[in-house]
Amino acid sequence: MNLQGKSFLKLLDFTPEEIQYLIDLAIKLKSEKKQGVPHRLCEGKNVALIFEKTSTRTRCAFEVAAADLGMHPVYLDPQGSQIGKKESIKDTARVLGGMFDGIEYRGYGQEIVEELAAFSGVPVWNGLTNEFHPTQILADFMTIKEIFGGIKGKKLVYMGDARYNMGNSLMVGAAKTGMHFVACAPKKYFPNAALVHDCLKIAKETGATLEFTEDVDKAVKGADVIYTDVWVSMGEPDGVWAERINDLTPYRVTAKVMEKAGGNCKFMHCLPSFHDLKTTVGKEIYDKFGIDCMEVTDEVFESDKSVVFLEAENRMHTIKAVMAATLAGASL
Ligand code: CP
Ligand code: NVA
Repeated sequence: MNLQGKSFLKLLDFTPEEIQYLIDLAIKLKSEKKQGVPHRLCEGKNVALIFEKTSTRTRCAFEVAAADLGMHPVYLDPQGSQIGKKESIKDTARVLGGMFDGIEYRGYGQEIVEELAAFSGVPVWNGLTNEFHPTQILADFMTIKEIFGGIKGKKLVYMGDARYNMGNSLMVGAAKTGMHFVACAPKKYFPNAALVHDCLKIAKETGATLEFTEDVDKAVKGADVIYTDVWVSMGEPDGVWAERINDLTPYRVTAKVMEKAGGNCKFMHCLPSFHDLKTTVGKEIYDKFGIDCMEVTDEVFESDKSVVFLEAENRMHTIKAVMAATLAGASL
């Protein structure tokens, strides 16, 4: 297994074995980190971290992982560079490719991160686009492996807006790793037909099952993991809130939903999450619509079924694995 020089843009570009290898490498690096064993596998390299949208986990994961690998990260914030406004992506790619050994990009269309990779000449890593969030899936599946001992055959139910980055990427990841994936939402929030088509083809080879249903009771029965995400993603207009609240409230993850799933079911969320009134947006929505939580209740979020902070920690270990594999060809 050697991924040196390769970009990490979407899970569709990787084989099931490569995905498994990245997860296992992350588990190894996590264990080394806990034991205080240094792993400065990319000593002296420099990486650029472009963020056209805000971030807590992804930015911190890249910065801490870069430091642990012996690298120097440079953060480019949503306002403070020429990117997109005065300089094209193609030009930016060639400028940054001349100075850095790798580039992370978080922003809008998937075509932007693909263009950066095509013209920079160095590995590019997708830190979230509208379509995909592949480093998040590595962390989620690492978490599933740590908790359940394996990934294949596990039933993961995604509730909510399944046609955006998280729903899409979880479906691709599940197809690649042989999971039982269920998108549970009103029909108009199902992943797009072309991506479903590709994933069904992959599923035939891996033994994965993909289901799409509006029926919550049917979806969650026997689930190992119930996963949700915000109802309105970064970059979407405020005008969509009313419709999303109306459409997706029946798909909120509540204690009753978790109970229906069965005893060992875990709750997962990429975060950040609107589960209480302790955020500015949460309060604004409460004032406007009178709801005190959105995609998940505070009860479920804070329960012992919730593994969201383990997922968050695993963002760092998996992002470190991606950089170590693609920059230094790290092996298990
Ligand atoms: N889950 C995730 O990507 O979080 P951030 O937006 O904080 O990076
Ligand atoms: N769907 C969310 C994911 C955040 C990690 C968004 O794009 O805002």
